[in-house]
Amino acid sequence: MSLHTPRPWDAVAEGYAETTLQITQAFARAALDWVAPSQDAHILDLATGPGTLSKLALAKVAQITAVDFSPEMLRICRAQLAGTTVEILEADGQDLGIHQRFDAAFSMFGLIFFPDRDAALRSLRASLRPGGVACISSWLPPQRSTGMIQAMGAFSAALPDWTPGELERPDWDHPEIIAQAMERAGFHDLQIEERLISVDVDAESAWRGLAQGFAPLALARQTMDPRLWAEAEQRGQAWMAEHCEPTQSYAALFAKGRA
Ligand SMILES: C[S@@+](CC[C@H](N)C(=O)[O-])C[C@H]1O[C@@H](n2cnc3c(N)ncnc32)[C@H](O)[C@@H]1O
Repeated sequence: MSLHTPRPWDAVAEGYAETTLQITQAFARAALDWVAPSQDAHILDLATGPGTLSKLALAKVAQITAVDFSPEMLRICRAQLAGTTVEILEADGQDLGIHQRFDAAFSMFGLIFFPDRDAALRSLRASLRPGGVACISSWLPPQRSTGMIQAMGAFSAALPDWTPGELERPDWDHPEIIAQAMERAGFHDLQIEERLISVDVDAESAWRGLAQGFAPLALARQTMDPRLWAEAEQRGQAWMAEHCEPTQSYAALFAKGRA
């Protein structure tokens, strides 16, 4: 499954806003605190999804530009940010074509999915004013997050014929890999940190979150024969009922660098 096109993100958008958002929102809050843009700053939220970081930044900065390439994500983003002055752009984030406009730029679990991350980082750096700060988040290996281990377990139980190779996963899970890429793009003063958050769940909501907000399952739900999906769902639910841990952790890498 390729996450390089808007289609799987469109498919997952509604469920993502209802479920996954609770996890990524906690990371977005931490990223805003880490970068601490000034009140008069203009910031970029690249691969904003349903407007996760932009919404939290509203009270903190003067101006926000949110970019994504998924029309469905942006439909929700527009609804979330209705009545605000956030500029919302539908664009491929690998080549923004914006020069020296932002004081800080964030890409939370976004740029890591782009096929040409080097180009995206160069474009991100070009969009920053000299001295501006970019902050990128990525996932640590799934074994570091109990939530991801559970997601993979439930996924395999629901759709046992899918091989892990079909599940595209960003490989930016090591500080060195990200540091080298940011250096290649010309960023300096790099800092990389691990961040961990925990969320409380029950088996039912954990499965619902996956079926709606986890792209491979959300796509399967929308495209499979309904009878086959019902069987898959039963297997996933049964797995979750047996294995769900009430507190799930998610481990991420945060990287920041100066343009
Ligand atoms: C995991 S979501 C993250 C959303 C949000 N930043 C958050 O933290 O909740 C990844 C987002 O990246 C967007 N995306 C993926 N590839 C993209 C590209 N080439 N250009 C723009 N957006 C892209 C997807 O549409 C999706 O909204």
